[in-house]
Amino acid sequence: MSDTFTPASVLVTGGAGFIGSNFIHHFLAGNPGCRVVNLDILTYAGNLKNLTAVQDNPNYRFVRGDICDAPLVATLLDEERIDAVVHFAAESHVDRSITGPEIFVRTNVLGTQTLLEASRKHAEKVSNFRFLQVSTDEVYGSLGPVGYFTEETPLAPNSPYSASKAGADLLVRAYFETFRLPTLNTRCSNNYGPYHFPEKLIPLMIHNILQRHPLPVYGDGLNVRDWLHVKDHSAAIERVLKKGTPGEVFNIGGNNEWKNIDIVKLVCDLMDERLGRFPGESRQLITYVKDRPGHDRRYAIDASKLKRELGWEPSYTFERGIAETIDWYLANQGWVAEVASGAYREYYQAQYGNR
Ligand code: NAD
Ligand code: TYD
Repeated sequence: MSDTFTPASVLVTGGAGFIGSNFIHHFLAGNPGCRVVNLDILTYAGNLKNLTAVQDNPNYRFVRGDICDAPLVATLLDEERIDAVVHFAAESHVDRSITGPEIFVRTNVLGTQTLLEASRKHAEKVSNFRFLQVSTDEVYGSLGPVGYFTEETPLAPNSPYSASKAGADLLVRAYFETFRLPTLNTRCSNNYGPYHFPEKLIPLMIHNILQRHPLPVYGDGLNVRDWLHVKDHSAAIERVLKKGTPGEVFNIGGNNEWKNIDIVKLVCDLMDERLGRFPGESRQLITYVKDRPGHDRRYAIDASKLKRELGWEPSYTFERGIAETIDWYLANQGWVAEVASGAYREYYQAQYGNR
């Protein structure tokens, strides 16, 4: 473990998205002396409503802009005297990467390189600097029924999304090896929690159950994902930023594997209880649909390095986390209705209409 790094001014990219906005809430609450600048272009996945609770915090600033805009990034790093970049901004949805891979390469690969290059130049001007790349276990590819991804598992991404994240991770590595930019790289399993856009499995199922729409389960429903609450992910990122040794990779996971069909049934049952529907009612909406091409079978993370070296462990049980998440969606139906209007409807029709 290295000495504690205590940033005074952090640039968060993609802070209006699901994980970035949760991280900003978490970080501002725990670091009252630190400034947080949020650079986000506000794609379909970015939403300033995720940040209403912090928008008037004097330590917080939102800048609408593109991570590929090198002059803008350089100006922000200098004028805000940034000493840490926590990089969330990305195109993040596998299904969208199958229908339109190009934007994934632009945002995830070129955007990361633009940030790294600006950081390299800026780091020469500040006494201590960190660049933390927020990445995914999907860069490791797919597992069979046994075994776990460790930090030594070779990168073998299968979707355009994961390939673009792997490309970004390798650039982060290169900037450490070549330029000694003090980088850190986290790779986390599937997150769930508040502000999750309803294109991903859990919020999509919650949304469709509410609407009594079919619940599309890809293939045989037996693909396995490891699920971690977004607040535990946020705490892990903060720990790695402050305590991790530059140049290192840290896996983050919940030790919480679920087959997709089992998680869908669980969400159905918890929703039925809360909505006063009869037991098993929402399960009747489950509809098996055509599988995703190149669908990774199983993800499972060995996060023992993070526990051993930096003392991080998840604080949420899945039972508590999923119940709280469902309650959040039920209490925030206006948020869901708003993000699920307009362009979302077109996306949904294109993705699921003829499946
Ligand atoms: P998200 O899609 O909800 O949010 C992405 C954010 O990035 C949005 O606010 C969007 O407006 C912004 N953005 C996109 N392109 C941009 C650009 N060119 N310039 C500035 N901002 C831009 O994604 P998420 O689920 O919050 O994921 C955040 C990060 O965490 C991603 O890097 C993703 O790969 C990684 N990750 C996600 C998960 C998960 O389960 N969701 C798991 C592990 C890692
Ligand atoms: P997703 O939330 O898209 O995350 P990722 O593909 O990054 O793991 O999907 C999680 C799992 O759920 C994945 O195995 C695909 C499956 N899935 C469905 O079965 N139906 C759906 O409508 C969606 C969005 C996902």
